[in-house]
Amino acid sequence: MDLENFHVAVIGAGPAGLYGAQQLVKQGARVVILNRDIKPGGLAEYGIYPDKYKMKDGLRAQFEKILASPQIEYLGNVTIGKNGALTIPELFELGFDAVLVTVGAQGTKWLGLPGEALRGVYHAKDIVYHYNKLPPFGAAPFEIGQNVVVIGVGNVMMDMAHWLIRDLQVESVTAVARRGPAEIKFDKKEFETVGANVDLLALDAEIARVTPIMLAVSQDPVAAKNEILAGLPRALPPVSTTRFLFDFLASPHEICGDAQGRVVALQVENNTLVPSNGDVKARGLGTFRKIPCDTVIFAIGDSVDAQFGLPIAQGEFVKNPAPRFPIEEISYEAFDPQSGAPLEGVFLAGWARRASTGLVGVARKDGTNGARAVGEYLKTLPHPRGLNQALLREKLNAHNLAVISQDDLKKLVEAEKNEARLRGLPEFKFATNQEMLDAMCV
Ligand SMILES: Cc1cc2nc3c(=O)[nH]c(=O)nc-3n(C[C@H](O)[C@H](O)[C@H](O)COP(=O)(O)OP(=O)(O)OC[C@H]3O[C@@H](n4cnc5c(N)ncnc54)[C@H](O)[C@@H]3O)c2cc1C
Ligand SMILES: NC(=O)c1ccc[n+]([C@@H]2O[C@H](COP(=O)([O-])OP(=O)(O)OC[C@H]3O[C@@H](n4cnc5c(N)ncnc54)[C@H](OP(=O)(O)O)[C@@H]3O)[C@@H](O)[C@H]2O)c1
Repeated sequence: MDLENFHVAVIGAGPAGLYGAQQLVKQGARVVILNRDIKPGGLAEYGIYPDKYKMKDGLRAQFEKILASPQIEYLGNVTIGKNGALTIPELFELGFDAVLVTVGAQGTKWLGLPGEALRGVYHAKDIVYHYNKLPPFGAAPFEIGQNVVVIGVGNVMMDMAHWLIRDLQVESVTAVARRGPAEIKFDKKEFETVGANVDLLALDAEIARVTPIMLAVSQDPVAAKNEILAGLPRALPPVSTTRFLFDFLASPHEICGDAQGRVVALQVENNTLVPSNGDVKARGLGTFRKIPCDTVIFAIGDSVDAQFGLPIAQGEFVKNPAPRFPIEEISYEAFDPQSGAPLEGVFLAGWARRASTGLVGVARKDGTNGARAVGEYLKTLPHPRGLNQALLREKLNAHNLAVISQDDLKKLVEAEKNEARLRGLPEFKFATNQEMLDAMCV
């Protein structure tokens, strides 16, 4: 069946949305991308570390090519959802035949600990958005001290360490892990940026401290240490004297503050390891200790946006447990557990389907497969509804939005390249929406 006159709204222009749109076009459908940010790219633009110029430019070039398709219309600076310019039911009323939700994981995952509201407590996502200049985070102040605790030992923790050690050059960064040295999740390549700052004596002492617990679950402490330090031979020369430390088997319990409401320590509960389904999990021992610090950053992953308007369970949008259009046995269909029925025509892909999971390549594959599921759904429809383009414009205009098109984006790219040339920088980004709008004369 030819999908030529079917219109799909893709919400979000991160890798999942953009590659999803590309796949929908391949299947013959027409796509309108509605993106919260002025710029496309999502975390590829505003998450990937700023100095990965080659990777970011390569992705930008691919995204530009996708957006050049005459079957795709880009509407940037448009938020969809309960608090947005349009809701999902309104998109169907306008005549869209299906909606592919690729809004990523915009919710902030806190642990609900005492002290989370103290000054100096942050979530990594906000800091990542800050140093990558996503409005409004780009221009927001972040009070980072000298002795920083980062909770979590994944690649986002490594990006935090990168920023703190190479850019801010703080005194110490301590990565706190609830499990042990064998459960680190960061990659060797990311370790290379800050490996030279690891306090090797302190790491040895820390591994010796947790060795009895590792041995009790048949883990090899030497192998774990080698894995942590695998990137050391190719580590970049250090640019600061920052001490990079690890603190294992420690679950955050409370963030302690002073009279001024500023962080002074992270209190942790000591853990042991217990086998669990072929892996290990942390179990609290009921004993506590304090790690002195002036800043605490949570790098424990993100959840989806609870305000978006789709049903949520365990930090994720609910998927149809018995999918009608599975791709590689995965369900891409949004589901309403209250009615026990799928949300007709609504599909999820990328980090909106599984929060904080995988690299750009994973989001690309998921967006593509989500779009294939949409294609299968469209084939079951008797005929296209017919999108009312004029009414869509009218509705957006009613919100007084400066809606960004593909042509506007070209002006922005040129303006930022020009600024970079004038300032002698490898790259320049405007940190506020107003500056971007001015540069595009919108
Ligand atoms: C700090 C960090 C560093 C990373 N570094 C790398 C790396 O070096 N290499 C790598 O391969 N991967 C990296 N990743 C992973 C990669 O960025 C993700 O896999 C990928 O971006 C997820 O794509 P997505 O499209 O699902 O979501 P996102 O990239 O988050 O895109 C979501 C899009 O939805 C839009 N949106 C959100 N809410 C709404 C709404 N209500 N209405 C309309 N639009 C909305 C946003 O504006 C955004 O454009 C990193 C991730 C993080 C967090
Ligand atoms: N440069 C890059 O390539 C790059 C950069 C950033 C992100 N990414 C990708 O983006 C994805 C997300 O990265 P991420 O670092 O956010 O996630 P992640 O790899 O899942 O790491 C999250 C860390 O937080 C810990 N954690 C989770 N919940 C916790 C809790 N309640 N209490 C204490 N600790 C908790 C986890 O410990 P447990 O293991 O015990 O759960 C883990 O150490 C990953 O796929 C990553 O590879 C890639």
